[in-house]
Amino acid sequence: MSSLFSAYSLRGVEFRNRVFVSPMCQYSSRDGLPNDWHMVHLGSRAVGGAGLVCVEATGVSPEGRISPGDTGLWSEEHARAFAPIASFIKSQGARAAIQLAHAGRKASTDLPWRGGKPLGEREGGWQTIAPSAVPFGDWPAPREMTNDDIEAVVKQFVDAARRASEAGFEVVELHMAHGYLLHEFLSPLSNRREDEFGGGLENRARFPLQVAEAVRAVWPAELPLFARISATDWVEGGWDLEQSVVFSRWLKERGVDLVDCSTGGLVPGARIPVAPGYQVPFAERIRGEAGVATGAVGLITEPEQAEEIISSGKADVVFLARAELRDPYWPLHAAKQLGAQAPWPVQYGRAAD
Ligand SMILES: Cc1cc2nc3c(=O)[nH]c(=O)nc-3n(C[C@H](O)[C@H](O)[C@H](O)COP(=O)(O)O)c2cc1C
Repeated sequence: MSSLFSAYSLRGVEFRNRVFVSPMCQYSSRDGLPNDWHMVHLGSRAVGGAGLVCVEATGVSPEGRISPGDTGLWSEEHARAFAPIASFIKSQGARAAIQLAHAGRKASTDLPWRGGKPLGEREGGWQTIAPSAVPFGDWPAPREMTNDDIEAVVKQFVDAARRASEAGFEVVELHMAHGYLLHEFLSPLSNRREDEFGGGLENRARFPLQVAEAVRAVWPAELPLFARISATDWVEGGWDLEQSVVFSRWLKERGVDLVDCSTGGLVPGARIPVAPGYQVPFAERIRGEAGVATGAVGLITEPEQAEEIISSGKADVVFLARAELRDPYWPLHAAKQLGAQAPWPVQYGRAAD
């Protein structure tokens, strides 16, 4: 019996297996609207047998995008454009998820294949916002957010979550990782505020928790809410695992059902000991100590490796990114290797063995 290919439930949603497609920016939208690329890219991975397919980091506002090519969910038109994609993913037996994001001081950059550098206003860029006017490396300084800005961004997340539900998504993941806005509030390296949103852990966590609580209030009770965090900044004096455990407990108390445990991204040049499964211990510790379901992510590429993570109780699910780009049929191939029933689409039955 494969643990990786055993079904899993959160609230009223059952996942056919524990292979989840990690959110991956495609930088291929105009005005935040998803298009044929997104349908084929996400649709292929649903056909490929994953338990859940998560749409890339999707801006809750135009200024919250990493680049002008990011998807967004700041209007009803965006919700309508996402609806057929969510519908197709579900028609293939996968669950449809979307990651909601605000890039904070790391917004307003060029597409990665054009260098990914910060864009000036003349090149279509915009003024970024952050907890404090502390830049990311040598990038332009963000504007420090006022309390009105904070309230406005909470509302943007809430409105986007409501639209995600209208579009037919079954899971929302809040992006609190990789040095984007919510992570910038958590980390003392980027949050130098002296008001109730800065200082001690409780204060730094206040805004991300407000977002989680406000989204949970509008997100249907039968549907799961995830949060992706960076469990460490990999920098002395930064955000770390101890704080992540406490924060994950607080997220759980506010109705977050699963913490997706990534790391890093807050400061350039952090020394990260990258190796197969290097972030799995964070998912394991948070699962054990915060008592919340976790997802493991990062250099998980082999079926046996993924199987071991689940069967040994290190995490409840695995998120795959690059392995799924290399092979959208990764779950079908992995199921075969693990001797599990592979979720082949009926149309492809003659190729299944
Ligand atoms: C092309 C690409 C785009 C990505 N975009 C996102 C994103 O939108 N949101 C996010 O949280 N992580 C993003 N990531 C990170 C992945 O979700 C994942 O955490 C990381 O690649 C490590 O997993 P892997 O070793 O399986 O690739 C992206 C990664 C890649 C390769």
